[in-house]
Amino acid sequence: MQGLPFRRVKVVKIILFFAVLCLPSCKEQISKVPEPVGEFERNVQPIFNRYCVECHSPRNAVRHLVLDSWESLLMGSENGAMIIPFYPKFSHLFQHLHTDTTLSPVAPPQMPIGRNPLSREEVMTIYEWIQNGAPNREGKIPFQESFQKIYVTNQAADLVAVIDKRSGLLMRYVDVSAEGGISQNPLQSPHYVTVSNDKRFWYVSLIAKGEVWKFDAQADTLIAKASVGSSPAHIVCSPDDSTLYVSNFSASVNRITMIDANTMTVKRVSPPINAAPHGLALSRDGRRLYATAYESDRVFELDLETFATRQFPLRRAGEPSMRNYRPYQVMLSPDERRLFVTCNGDATFDGDLRVIDLETLDIRAIPVGKYPILMDYTPDKTRLYVANRNSNSVSVVNVQSEVVVATIENVGIQPHGLAISSDGFGYVSNESLIGFVGHHPTDGGLRAGTSSIIDTRTNQVIKVVEMLSFPAGVAIRE
Ligand code: HEC
Repeated sequence: MQGLPFRRVKVVKIILFFAVLCLPSCKEQISKVPEPVGEFERNVQPIFNRYCVECHSPRNAVRHLVLDSWESLLMGSENGAMIIPFYPKFSHLFQHLHTDTTLSPVAPPQMPIGRNPLSREEVMTIYEWIQNGAPNREGKIPFQESFQKIYVTNQAADLVAVIDKRSGLLMRYVDVSAEGGISQNPLQSPHYVTVSNDKRFWYVSLIAKGEVWKFDAQADTLIAKASVGSSPAHIVCSPDDSTLYVSNFSASVNRITMIDANTMTVKRVSPPINAAPHGLALSRDGRRLYATAYESDRVFELDLETFATRQFPLRRAGEPSMRNYRPYQVMLSPDERRLFVTCNGDATFDGDLRVIDLETLDIRAIPVGKYPILMDYTPDKTRLYVANRNSNSVSVVNVQSEVVVATIENVGIQPHGLAISSDGFGYVSNESLIGFVGHHPTDGGLRAGTSSIIDTRTNQVIKVVEMLSFPAGVAIRE
């Protein structure tokens, strides 16, 4: 586990316990009416009763995993969710039940540990139940009523992972692959994700495919696809959600593509943003769009009424002329008088956080960790959290004084995305392209990645959620 903290597991488990118990209505829990019997009670629970509860019961819950009911099974173990509805392949419990890597990746040790393995028929009974969404006796799919969710793109798995905010459990994977089958070749590479202001939709950029896909944010089902040209990176929604601004992160395209969010067609393209626009920020009134030009060390301002552009260089007087800043992401300060820009840096320069004063044009540099990527404000907007990819840390910056007031170390391996909820929890995606292979490394599987949850009141990592390869963009719906 590479020393990642799991200190709050017990507290979280108690919260989970109530969260999951409340999935079926509490009235049903105490009613004396005979309960309907479904596939789970008829065929799945008997397998657990026969082979598993001996070591996974409330009294003897190995790895805090209890298999005596649907509710407790869905609370997962100390390592998080053990079942992902509709995805037996990526359900950790299923991976422990067999040794056939054509069915799913395989996680040793095989369960039931030290006993005869389950029959093929028993294994397939569990497979099909998960494939059908792991319903309970009323046909209810776990977390189907979950409203508050965190979306994390798994860029090298062509999936978007969905975390249930209340329980902190991974609740779904959403397939964004070419053939609807986790096809690995070629990858479409979901990079960035954003939720519309009205919370009804979310959008994901498929950077290798050149498309933005629109999803219903309640059911997480695909609504439409827009073809937006080469390398769509960042997406922002206009304040009224009618327009999407998408950066084409390509030195041969160099533009922002504007999409009609209702028809998902291209409305207009911007004048040239040279070169390789990446990060975007929109003023609150929806009139000014800022874009980082990754390959020219500048930030562009685009007036969305006149389409006039202005440019702000990032180099300060006296800095080496050979140095590349590689501005990745931009955010407006709460008073909209300054820009915060994460600069990835190059071989000669580790990167930093730059501040551009839009009135005086003064440029200041804040020393954060190496290769800073995405950032977000605390709910009161007094602090800015910055994910430092090559330092495995998050820097906490006082927005007013522009001073680093704390550094959270060992957040995960290669932190990339960062989003903070309205109640002050930071969700950090960790690319994990080196090092981490999962708490139980699997045979025949994709590389594992993680997202860490930070409590911004204590600046502690309170939970780590395992997911699939290359977690990148993060968005919260609440
Ligand atoms: C004799 C005791 C025993 C029995 C019976 C048993 N388990 Fe386990 N189980 C363990 C132990 C010990 C571990 C921890 C293994 C490890 O991490 O190396 C474990 C771990 C697991 C895990 C992984 C939990 C995690 O956090 O990664 C799953 C899933 C699991 N068991 C499911 C089952 C299922 C399903 C059955 C029945 C088919 C079963 N077990 C039967 C002892 C048992």
